[in-house]
Amino acid sequence: MQRIKTLSEYFKKYELSEKDPESFWSEIADSFTWKKKWDKVLDWDFEKANTKWFQNAKLNITENIFERNLKERGSKTAIIWEPNDPSEPSIHLTYQELYEETCKFSNALRSKGIKKGDRVIIYMPMVPEAAIAMLACARVGAVHSVVFAGFSSTSLADRINDCQAKMVLTSDGNFRGNKTIPVKSVVDEALEKSSTIESVIVLERTKQTINMFEGRDHWWHDCIKEESNVCEAEVLDSEDMLFILYTSGSTGKPKGVVHSSAGYMVYSAYTFLNVFQYDENDIYWCTADVGWITGHSYIVYGPLLCGATTVMFEGIPTFPNVSRFWDIVDKYKINQFYTAPTAIRALQAHGLDPIKNNSLESLKVIGSVGEPINEEAWHWYHDNIGKGNCPLVDTWWQTETGGIMISALAGITPNKPAHASLPLPGIHPVIVDADGNELIGNNVQGNLCIKFPWPSILRTTYGDHQRCINTYFSNYKGMYFTGDGVKRDHDGYLRILGRVDDVINVSGHRMGTAEVENAINEHEEVIESAVVGYPHNIKGEGIYAYVIVNSESSDDIIKAEIIDVVRKVIGPIAKPDKVQIVSGLPKTRSGKIMRRILRKIASNDYGNLGDTSTLLNPNVVEEIIKGAN
Ligand code: WTA
Repeated sequence: MQRIKTLSEYFKKYELSEKDPESFWSEIADSFTWKKKWDKVLDWDFEKANTKWFQNAKLNITENIFERNLKERGSKTAIIWEPNDPSEPSIHLTYQELYEETCKFSNALRSKGIKKGDRVIIYMPMVPEAAIAMLACARVGAVHSVVFAGFSSTSLADRINDCQAKMVLTSDGNFRGNKTIPVKSVVDEALEKSSTIESVIVLERTKQTINMFEGRDHWWHDCIKEESNVCEAEVLDSEDMLFILYTSGSTGKPKGVVHSSAGYMVYSAYTFLNVFQYDENDIYWCTADVGWITGHSYIVYGPLLCGATTVMFEGIPTFPNVSRFWDIVDKYKINQFYTAPTAIRALQAHGLDPIKNNSLESLKVIGSVGEPINEEAWHWYHDNIGKGNCPLVDTWWQTETGGIMISALAGITPNKPAHASLPLPGIHPVIVDADGNELIGNNVQGNLCIKFPWPSILRTTYGDHQRCINTYFSNYKGMYFTGDGVKRDHDGYLRILGRVDDVINVSGHRMGTAEVENAINEHEEVIESAVVGYPHNIKGEGIYAYVIVNSESSDDIIKAEIIDVVRKVIGPIAKPDKVQIVSGLPKTRSGKIMRRILRKIASNDYGNLGDTSTLLNPNVVEEIIKGAN
């Protein structure tokens, strides 16, 4: 695959992608290995949320990672694994070794009855086996659905049930900083609430005592013991499902975003190579977890398709101390480093001391993802980690987009602090006002839509195509709606402003307010709740919950119980930062909660609450302001 090397080449490619998207994408797709090439590049109808790329082509994504790379890169390191505890040895897996481990595990999956199309849940720590599990599923044509191992048993059960999964891959426990987290027991609990799982494969990691259920549970090492290290790849259709990844929206429970085989492959590889400008001998590190889309596209698939060396880190940035990230950068001489603004802000809060003994001179490119990066964090990252001479790529994209959509190409697109900057070739963003009118020209602000399909656009939401249509393709006719606000500045550069719907972005993780409210409402003494986001110095946004209770307990006790209920129902990432007990919520005469007002109060912005004349109960606003945290 050819990499774009100059700004004028970028503009040329962009123009071609507008004029003749089919030639543009087929030229890129030509550099992959196909069992059979496509009959037609693209077929689409946004009103029905139908998009098909590379129709009738046949392939297996893992043959593009392995067979396509092995001859030249068999002995090249594919994965470097850095354990949670730096005194434990790291692991380096070459492409050949990763291939053999993947084949063995693919055979193990087949031995346990997994076939093409079956859904397999991966609930694992950040260890090489998590990547092997994903690749093995892909090899046998099973659809993986990775669930972040911090989610509760209820969240896990919801996902298992929604996709009717047949198998769970997990570990005995996870190491995270100085904690050991039980994982298998969470799976056991989840399986009490679901009936489709036939078997569980358990990786030994922490060696803690766990229950193994006869006939259902098997050890990973036993499963692969007798298996061959050769495994024929299942032949998949371009549009066959590669994976499902659940993500929060503004309503109801999380949606299973579905990605296809061919389009996702082409786009994740293309964007990895171009955004990070990866060179053959570079060492690349993305700090995400494979439980999120960033881990899928830019730890596993994108880098491995490009034959890159990708680092996987099991731990957290603050263990054993706050220099950990920078120690890892120096240890492996990382060239491209990709992380989230929340991590940058958290480390920035410790000042420059933690980096004074680090050279960081191997770094060539630094990246940001998951939430808007504020200017202060941008400059700190650029000046102190990038030492002022590494391009900073602020990459905007979503679970639904599969790959990076708007970003500078490292070293090619001029950097502009806090701006995601320009769309990738093939991506056609538009800014629309509330009525759906396209805002042309520079110096405009509105909602971000995409008006033309790209290869890794979501194909559906699992089991409910209508929901996919309603969520993404109904707000603005003929366009994909992102849920984000955006500004195009006087130079034509794009700056993402954050969500415009009821989704809160907490430390780069998406949380639907409705989801958190539903969890809070599970507390027996809660009558009603309303959840909003508010600006948070480290997390970007914090979760603020207004709750009406009917309880004899003190407010402190009930608040602690509410936080605990959310932890149990969703997981620790959804815990409210602030809980305020209130006697009522501001509502319109038709009974709708006026979140706009609640958001302002949560942000300490009482001065201008806007029009409150339509409120049914204006007095309650005064009371809420008085009691605000
Ligand atoms: C936000 C993560 C500003 C945005 C890859 C989007 C960003 C949501 C950026 C998707 C960025 C992601 N600048 N905001 N560079 N990247 N976002 O699905 O609100 O976990 O809609 O995908 O994160 O989150 P998701």
